[in-house]
Amino acid sequence: MAKIKDRKGIILAGGTGSRLSPLTKAVSKQLMPIYDKPMIYYPLSTLLIAGIKEILIICSPFYLKSYQNLLGDGSQWGVNIKYKCQQSPDGIAQAFILGEEFLKGSPVCLILGDNLFYGDNLSLKLKEANQDRNNGTLFAYQVNDPSRYGIVEFNSEFNVLNIQEKPTNPSSNYAITGIYFYENSVVSIAKNLKPSKRGELEITDINNVLLSENNLKVKLLKRGMAWLDTGTIDSLHDAGTFIKTIETRQGLKIGCPEEIAFKLKYIGKKELKKIADNYSSSEYGKYLLKLIKNY
Ligand code: DAU
Repeated sequence: MAKIKDRKGIILAGGTGSRLSPLTKAVSKQLMPIYDKPMIYYPLSTLLIAGIKEILIICSPFYLKSYQNLLGDGSQWGVNIKYKCQQSPDGIAQAFILGEEFLKGSPVCLILGDNLFYGDNLSLKLKEANQDRNNGTLFAYQVNDPSRYGIVEFNSEFNVLNIQEKPTNPSSNYAITGIYFYENSVVSIAKNLKPSKRGELEITDINNVLLSENNLKVKLLKRGMAWLDTGTIDSLHDAGTFIKTIETRQGLKIGCPEEIAFKLKYIGKKELKKIADNYSSSEYGKYLLKLIKNY
């Protein structure tokens, strides 16, 4: 019997970040600090928590070196990281076309490099979505400003009625978050998409194809969960403040790939110590050392 393929992860970290100019003139948006670590650590940690170990980073060619310098080949965390360039931001759904070779027929979890997820039973929800091989899974979250997002409308039984990209008059306040679990069939769906009016291959068009085939579930992330995006100056600042508040209160870090890899036993004390020693003069490094001591 053929072995069931493990799901692979893609982090989409391209785009121009124009809404953050001039911050993004020389630095990629997804490398901006969210309090004490680069933004991309958060979606990377989310993939690790979901149980995903093979990861492709898609970024603009201009920043490839910076991502490689920061994340390397992933072996320091016991995972595998590869890179692919997106020449221009032609749409989120292009990630599956660019990722086809990397995926090699595997199911995929795409996460947007500017999305932060945090909450109590997040890891259970992610693992369930990872293990579901019958349907794609999306997550919806109630927001105050729905016209900024892909929006899902539910009926009274919470079955999906429709998904629309940034509607002017949103029919609900439930946004589709930037984490998408799909079977590998998403690659051919993406290849058959036509660019939208704004010239992009839209993730919402993929979701509508899967909905029409009855192959998509949308699960709710309830109010005890935090979903933040960091696309504007204010939301970037808010995300940093949020992380600082929780981390300071608890003395625990959010979105720390070393800690997750250590707890999942992808790496041992020796490997963790090596990273900690490299960061010995920062609070981050001290935190890693404390993890080893308290284990
Ligand atoms: O954050 C969730 C939302 O993300 C969803 O609700 C929407 O349905 C979805 O379209 C997307 O909306 P955004 O307006 O946030 O998409 P944006 O164009 O800002 O792209 C999201 C991230 O993906 C951003 O960090 C840049 C990156 N990106 C985007 C495009 C279009 C790329 O790397 N390449 C691209 O071609």
